Amino acid sequence: MSALTVDGLHKSGGDREPLVAVTAYDYTFARLADEAGVDILLVGDSLGMVVQGEATTLPVTLDHMVYHTRCVSRGRSRALVVADLPFRAYKASPAQALDSAARLMAEGGCEMVKLEGGRAMVETVAFLQERDIPVMGHLGLTPQSVHQLGGYRVQGRSPDRAAALVEEALDLERAGARALVLEAVPRDLARRVTESVGIPVIGIGAGPDCDGQVLVLQDVLGLFEGFQPRFAKRYMDGAGAVRDALGGFCREVRSGAFPADEHSFE
Ligand code: KIV
Repeated sequence: MSALTVDGLHKSGGDREPLVAVTAYDYTFARLADEAGVDILLVGDSLGMVVQGEATTLPVTLDHMVYHTRCVSRGRSRALVVADLPFRAYKASPAQALDSAARLMAEGGCEMVKLEGGRAMVETVAFLQERDIPVMGHLGLTPQSVHQLGGYRVQGRSPDRAAALVEEALDLERAGARALVLEAVPRDLARRVTESVGIPVIGIGAGPDCDGQVLVLQDVLGLFEGFQPRFAKRYMDGAGAVRDALGGFCREVRSGAFPADEHSFE
């Protein structure tokens, strides 16, 4: 399969399969996800929670994002690498967003940046896209707004809020966004948004009618035993497997079974 480019991002339907995205934060897992056939490696600021152990994504800095984006970029051969603009690195002005996005692309090696927000981000999206920075929007539950939203809650439940969300998706598309992430919204609303815009909508907790799906890697692998959103599906008991493997290592070192002759040099 040839490498996926920003231009290759597509709506699903007909003979176009849904896009598959997963978060990645390091070289090893980026490489495995790429080899498994994942289309988009999202260097999410969720790394604040699943890598750094923070309670929210807010403390993540641009330097952290550049570092992890670089690690992920080195591990990909086919997938598109998208990096999150972190909380403090883009909301002040379009110029701030441009500086930050340019670092993620030039130093981190990603092809696209993601930013959270609707109407307030329209000018920034247009500013970036006019300066050759492909942007993925993020609507619905936007984790950087957790305090404004009063928690990690499903968004767009009222008719007014649902209509506003569809408008915001259209606004972002008109501003030049090349794709959208739609997080934690009712399935019907996700379908409305997906049908309303001509750019791919990648859902997380947004039901099956989007153009693609994204999950946090640690959730897919069952590695993160802290907060587990209802929409996250575990495809393995990674935490159990890791504990078993490391427990085996502990036992063998303590019993003298490791290292054996084949692990030793004469
Ligand atoms: O930061 C992140 O991992 C994300 C995904 C959950 C979409 O934004």
